[in-house]
Amino acid sequence: MIVTTKALYDVAYGKYALGAYNVNNMEQILGLFEGCQRARSPFILQISKGARKYAGSGMMDAMIRAAEARYPDLIFSTHLDHGDEKTCMDAIAAGTYSSVMIDASHEPFAENVASTRRVVEAAHAQGVSVEAELGKLGGVEEHIKVDEKDARLTDPDEAEAFVKETGCDSLAVAVGTSHGAYKFSGTQGLHLDRIAEIQKRLPRYPFVLHGASSVPADEVSRINAAGGALKEGAKGVNLADVGRAIPLGVTKINIDTDGRLVWTRVHREFFRDKPEGFDLRKPGDIFVEEFAKMVEERSKVLLSAGQLDTLRAALA
Ligand code: G3H
Ligand code: 13P
Ligand code: ZN
Repeated sequence: MIVTTKALYDVAYGKYALGAYNVNNMEQILGLFEGCQRARSPFILQISKGARKYAGSGMMDAMIRAAEARYPDLIFSTHLDHGDEKTCMDAIAAGTYSSVMIDASHEPFAENVASTRRVVEAAHAQGVSVEAELGKLGGVEEHIKVDEKDARLTDPDEAEAFVKETGCDSLAVAVGTSHGAYKFSGTQGLHLDRIAEIQKRLPRYPFVLHGASSVPADEVSRINAAGGALKEGAKGVNLADVGRAIPLGVTKINIDTDGRLVWTRVHREFFRDKPEGFDLRKPGDIFVEEFAKMVEERSKVLLSAGQLDTLRAALA
């Protein structure tokens, strides 16, 4: 059953976080649904502009509907990740998305507010939830390269004003993370103190953590042992910190890189060990299983595992 992210947040806030997994193909969709079924966890399926272009939006929509029919027990939202205004309007009109993200965080405050407000008006008229972003993450976001030095944490006063002025349903906050496999060096980590400050200004308001992959060290080592060339020491978000962020209002945890690492490890190891192989379904099956395992494990960390029936009762 597809519901809005707002409906999920209203039940989850402060108790657990929803894993928001980026998907691009059938195998990721199958693994995601299977992992959440095993964990009995609600979730957010998210699709970036790049994913819509890669698979074709009609193809993605059809695969999501097919997965929904195959796993009728599951409750999830379908979310456009990092949309610009035009893509958000397209997604709202398409009717497949129960939630969109307008990412105008690279714009000055006033333009970000104006753009977000236009999307909120269009989305709410169709019963679609809106996520917006304030502050700048480090790393690369959809063609906009933000120098690490300029990465700017979300300002609590601005966050309060932004939410009031736009009416968005959740806010992606910049609190030290960045997209991709290389997030932290040395003792850097999540700025939990900043999240707590923002929560004081916006109590019971859901925050979103982008760049929340954990980049497991053994995954990086296995990829490199099978011929990969990822930087050793690539470091992601500490899972214990993710747990600490939940009572501070972080209700959506974005995970893309960790799924890509699973894909890379499975395929590199498969063809290293079976150089004569060329049946794509063999590594495909392994990937679905390994991705499902990752999703199941992550649901436990996010405390969303086992919440499906309570959520269903709350939504009834
Ligand atoms: O935040 C961006 C997500 O990781 C999606 O990445 O634009 O390459 O699909 P993508
Ligand atoms: P990661 O690169 O840490 O997986 O972040 C994904 C994300 O924020 C998608 O919007
Ligand atoms: Zn993101």
